Amino acid sequence: MQDYLKQNHKLSELKEQLQIIQQREDFQRKRAEKLFEESGVGKRFLTAKFENFERQRMPKAYDIALGYAEKFDKNDGEGLIFTGDVGTGKTHLAAAIAAEIIRKYSATVEFVSYVEVLTNIKAAFSNHSEEAYMLEERMRKADLLVIDDLGKEKPTPFTSELFYRVVNGRYKDKLPMIITSNYGVESLSERLDYPVFSRLVAICRAVEMRGIDYRMKDYLC
Ligand SMILES: Nc1ncnc2c1ncn2[C@@H]1O[C@H](COP(=O)(O)OP(=O)(O)O)[C@@H](O)[C@H]1O
Ligand SMILES: [Mg+2]
Repeated sequence: MQDYLKQNHKLSELKEQLQIIQQREDFQRKRAEKLFEESGVGKRFLTAKFENFERQRMPKAYDIALGYAEKFDKNDGEGLIFTGDVGTGKTHLAAAIAAEIIRKYSATVEFVSYVEVLTNIKAAFSNHSEEAYMLEERMRKADLLVIDDLGKEKPTPFTSELFYRVVNGRYKDKLPMIITSNYGVESLSERLDYPVFSRLVAICRAVEMRGIDYRMKDYLC
């Protein structure tokens, strides 16, 4: 009888421990999801993960991206620049890296659309909007900065200055960046100011993604 009671007690203790572990995991998962949402990634790519990327379409880019995310804390300031055709999964892989390093390393990520920054930030600064200063601060300080669609539009002198401050600051502090762009590295050199371009090239490994637009895969034979 005593043995039975002892075993029963042990079992309920184990159950309790399991429940605590599950609760902790649940909390961590929810926290990571919230942080990913707050990174600025945007609704469309909230579900973009490594698990739902069809590796066989872009095996080299997938492996580089996954390897990068897995050893994020040892990347020593190095980043990636995904270049190539539209719809090949550049933004998807950048988002997957962001989600993974938030989950695994509780890293802070700022995910910005280059065009949106170009379009919105001057007005925001002119209105002395606190959000504009905070955005610059987050772009400058986050553990990882993702700039989506770099070079899509030409910068104004104002936005050139902003990107120079951000990129140069991160370069000096060895803070990594992930870039996506439909332009190859050579064309990017014509679309960015040289001081920004040269720093990005120095710290970001180029990953070329050539292929058909994934969104058209069912229409093309
Ligand atoms: N290999 C892939 N596996 C699964 N989904 C993909 C793949 N490549 C692209 N997609 C999906 O196709 C759409 C376009 O991809 P996106 O990352 O926006 O391309 P890019 O940034 O290169 O223009 C997205 O919805 C993305 O999730
Ligand atoms: Mg994209």
